[in-house]
Amino acid sequence: MKSDTNPTRRSFLRAGLAGGAAIAGGAGGAFAAGDPLITEIQDWNRYLGEGVDARPYGSPSQFEAHVVRKNVPWLTSDAVSSVNFTPLHELDGIVTPSGLCFERHHGGIAEIDPAQHRLMINGMVEKALVFTMADLKRFPRENKLYFLECAANSGMEWRGAQLNGCQYTHGMIHCVMYTGVPLRTILEEAGVKPEGKWLLAEGADASAMTRSIPLEKAMEDCMVAFGMNGEALRPEQGYPIRLVVPGWEGNMWVKWLRRLEIGDEPWHQREETSKYTDLLPNGKARRFTYVMDVKSVITNPSPQAPITHGKGPLVISGLAWSGNGRIKRVDVTTDGGRNWHTARIDGPALPKALHRFYYEFDWDGSELFLQSRAIDEDGFVQPTKDELRSVRGSNSIYHNNGIQTWYVNKDGGIENVEIF
Ligand code: MTE
Ligand code: CO
Repeated sequence: MKSDTNPTRRSFLRAGLAGGAAIAGGAGGAFAAGDPLITEIQDWNRYLGEGVDARPYGSPSQFEAHVVRKNVPWLTSDAVSSVNFTPLHELDGIVTPSGLCFERHHGGIAEIDPAQHRLMINGMVEKALVFTMADLKRFPRENKLYFLECAANSGMEWRGAQLNGCQYTHGMIHCVMYTGVPLRTILEEAGVKPEGKWLLAEGADASAMTRSIPLEKAMEDCMVAFGMNGEALRPEQGYPIRLVVPGWEGNMWVKWLRRLEIGDEPWHQREETSKYTDLLPNGKARRFTYVMDVKSVITNPSPQAPITHGKGPLVISGLAWSGNGRIKRVDVTTDGGRNWHTARIDGPALPKALHRFYYEFDWDGSELFLQSRAIDEDGFVQPTKDELRSVRGSNSIYHNNGIQTWYVNKDGGIENVEIF
């Protein structure tokens, strides 16, 4: 039977046409008569595709080739001690794909053969121990989703709007599922002496990154992770093992972890004295500012992802997080803070992980000042940049959790601005 003589199919087509006309001018989906993409057979339909083993380790579609980490070349003088940024405006949900996690290295990527890698624990312990990777994998393990935010995320924005895109203003963050051994288990194996109060974590890379961590935190929820999103850690993220320090500044998450030392006081390393401290207006510096405070950003639309569909239904989407735990609420404004609307959090709301929020509304084509404001379960409210500066001054680089503003013009073009 020819399909056009089939009454059921014909009435369906008619209904489809009417349906298309009804939503034209709405969220899209208007019927275009004679569209060859519908009436012609396309190549991907006509010819067989590649077979199963053509891509033994899969990668994204060729049409997604623009979705990559990017750096800002003028920020640093050399790529071995530099940073690139997660393309937040291209992502959805809460998990960052492994290949898109921003990278921050102080001495390049260490390429370590796991068979040659050792984790040593020494200092104020009952017995100093050295673990191989095989040893580590014999301890009970856990799986946890956490965000990692560099303390310098949004650092370029302290003195005013600077970089045009959430990839650059907020992209020093990622959120992946870690598999590993609770740090507590390893510390208990070595037996921490009663005078032991601090832990030094040291990396095996050329920068030998070292940070002091209070023992309380080490025992609470830190992990020695060997897995990331279900597979081995990527070299960029510290293969074969990294320290996971949930909710605390990214610098403490030592990659290529090779040594843990127990002591009775902090070591005052470079990364906790001249770096990762916040110089206040009175000349004193805030130190040991570990927790990454409650923060959020609208990822779409944003400068790298303008509105191209004109007025009508618009999905505003973004990310919120807090080093204290879960996000309780996210508010969105389209008029620079005069009116706030509660956004919808969708997907898992896990402590110290990214939360995805949406606010859907009907854009009338007028100018917008988009902002989001997150509130965490401890009641902390994300401050405006002005509120932050009134307390901390403008010398700071680190720990900027101020509210971000995107200005949307009538054509849907978007810019990073600040409202005073
Ligand atoms: N660990 C080592 N060994 N070497 C480093 O350069 N950089 C730190 C931290 N751990 C670093 C390190 C900084 S500043 C950050 S923000 C995070 O790793 C970045 O982790 P990522 O590269 O997985 O994004
Ligand atoms: Co960092």
